[in-house]
Amino acid sequence: MNKLGVIFDLDGVIVDTAKYHFLAWKQLADQLGFTFTKAHNELLKGVSRIKSLEILLNIGDIRVSEEEKKAFLIRKNKEYLSYITKMTADEILPGALELLNTLDHMGIAYVLGSASKNAPLILKQVGIYNRFKSIVDGNSVSKAKPDPEVFLIGAKKLNLQPRQCIVFEDAIAGIEAANNANMISVGIGNKNTLNEANYNFNNLKEIPTDFFKKLMTLN
Ligand code: BG6
Ligand code: MG
Repeated sequence: MNKLGVIFDLDGVIVDTAKYHFLAWKQLADQLGFTFTKAHNELLKGVSRIKSLEILLNIGDIRVSEEEKKAFLIRKNKEYLSYITKMTADEILPGALELLNTLDHMGIAYVLGSASKNAPLILKQVGIYNRFKSIVDGNSVSKAKPDPEVFLIGAKKLNLQPRQCIVFEDAIAGIEAANNANMISVGIGNKNTLNEANYNFNNLKEIPTDFFKKLMTLN
C-alpha cells in the first residue's frame, strides 16, 4: 500500500464563505454604482483577491489607478472581515469534521491549500486551525490557482510526491491547479462544472468510507 496525503481547499469545501465574499464585493459594487449578482460571484470562486477585484471592475466597466485598486481591496476585506469574525464551528460544512476524524483514524496527514489570505483566521474562528499539519494560504504563494504552486508547497509540507496527494476542491481553477500539479483531484459540488476532476462528489458527506483505502491500492 502506498502512502497518501490530503490537501483541502477551504472556501466552499470546509466552510461556505462565498456568501460573505458576495456581500462584501456587492457593497463595493453598490458604492461604485453597478449591479453585482450572485451569478457574477460564481466567477470569483477560487480566484485570488486581486484577480477577483479585476473581474468585478470589468463587470462594472470601471477603470481605476493601482492606488485606487489597493484602497478597494482594503475596503472589501474590511467588510468581509466583519462577517468572518462572527463565524463559529456551526458553519463547518456537513461531513468535514467526520472526514478529518476518518483521516486522523487512518493516519493520513492533511494540510490546507487555499487562495485566501484570511484562511488562518477562518480556521481559528471555526476551531479547527490546529488539526492541520500545515497551512498553505494566499500569503504563502506568488502564483494563484490554476497555477499548481499552492498544492506543490502543500505536497512538500506533507513530505509526499504530487501523485500521492489528494486535493479536495470546489472551484474550476482549483481542480485545474490540482491537475496541473499531477495530483488526484476531487471535485466537491456540481459534477458538470467540475468535470475535469478525477472524482466528483456533491459534498464531503458523500465520500465513501473506503475511498482512501481504494486509492492507496491504486496508487
Ligand atoms: C478563495 C475564494 O478561497 O480565496 C475566492 O474562493 C477568494 O473567492 C480567495 O477571492 C481570496 O480570499 P481572501 O480571503 O484572501 O480575500
Ligand atoms: Mg474553494
